[in-house]
Amino acid sequence: MKGRVPAHGNMLVNRVADGAKADALRKEAASLKRLTLTPKQSCDLEMISIGAFSPLKGFMGSADFESVCTSMKLASGAIWPIPILLSVSKSDAPKTGERVALHASNGVLQAVITVEEVFPHNKALELPNVFRTEDAAHPGVAQVMAEGDTCIAGPVETLTVCADPNGPEAFLDHRLTPAQTRAAFDQRGWLTITAFQTRNPIHRAHEYLCKVAQEIGDGLLVHPLVGETKEGDIPAKVRMECYRVLLDNYFVPERTMLSVMPAAMRYAGPREAILHALVRKNYGCSHFIVGRDHAGVGNYYGSYDAQRIFDELDPASLVIIPFKFEHTAYSKRAGGMVSPKTFPNIPGDQVSLSGTKVREMLAAGQRPPEEFTRAEVADVLIKWATGKG
Ligand code: ADX
Repeated sequence: MKGRVPAHGNMLVNRVADGAKADALRKEAASLKRLTLTPKQSCDLEMISIGAFSPLKGFMGSADFESVCTSMKLASGAIWPIPILLSVSKSDAPKTGERVALHASNGVLQAVITVEEVFPHNKALELPNVFRTEDAAHPGVAQVMAEGDTCIAGPVETLTVCADPNGPEAFLDHRLTPAQTRAAFDQRGWLTITAFQTRNPIHRAHEYLCKVAQEIGDGLLVHPLVGETKEGDIPAKVRMECYRVLLDNYFVPERTMLSVMPAAMRYAGPREAILHALVRKNYGCSHFIVGRDHAGVGNYYGSYDAQRIFDELDPASLVIIPFKFEHTAYSKRAGGMVSPKTFPNIPGDQVSLSGTKVREMLAAGQRPPEEFTRAEVADVLIKWATGKG
């Protein structure tokens, strides 16, 4: 690699206002129409504001929306797989040209948007294209269905990046912006960096993917998603504790960084894998891990659909390189982690547990086998599952 990967669209966006501009904006906001964002919209706003969604400077208009749905590209031609919309109810919709104050659900003033377009939310176009299903039981679909039928588009100017900076899930010490991760990589002299996206505790299979990537690059960015997730997912606060004990005990600090990504989860499988990769490119990463059923939920996507979709993209436009991993598990016969690429699948040989089984064990105060999850991680999860943590 010659230099650090450029931001997507070759421009790292920063929509955060400071100094006199922020003071003026705050004053102006007091007299503006006010909209309250959903948690997902607050997450999207933060991602836009810090440049994680570069080149987006605001919520999408209809040309981008339609192009993203039908061809996975912004109207400019840049790859983009998922619409980033500000949907409201028709009665709440402002007029084109209006400036509107955007507040988080806790009342905090987050930003001001200049409304450039107001258009209908075409869910019939979005759902089958983005999620490959319109089943209301899919959590990402259900979320879109619950959103308003009118979208407002335009650039944002942001005052409060993290909607709840004093909350238990702010992780301010680890909430680095793309400009900050890029600076940290420079400082460490890292050029080839693999990002690991996760919304779960890191079990041995996840750890293995990370370690393989570490063998061939300069560094690893463990980059958990800590924005909105569905009910039933393990809270980010508990997961962060798991990541910390794992990194402290089983990783090399000189080669590993932990930082959070404040995005909301959409469970859109293949399309979300692309979004996850583009975002990590903005954070300055050169490689991105895509394993089995990345960003999937239930049985909506094939195990490797999220890998195959990368083959439809022009690598020169994508820039970040996907590291594709097949199903990994501990093999008793091999005495280590394996995948179908490295060891034959012998019936009964692999240590694999269903999510339900793991939850049952944790709730009963039992550690899953060491071959499945590290004891230190299991203990954090047991504390949480038994209500002691
Ligand atoms: S995700 O929604 O963020 O994709 P998760 O945190 O479970 O969910 O997975 C993080 C990454 O690890 C994803 O790239 C996923 O595909 C990969 N992964 C999880 N478990 C396995 C496994 N057993 N084998 C291979 N890849 C896996």
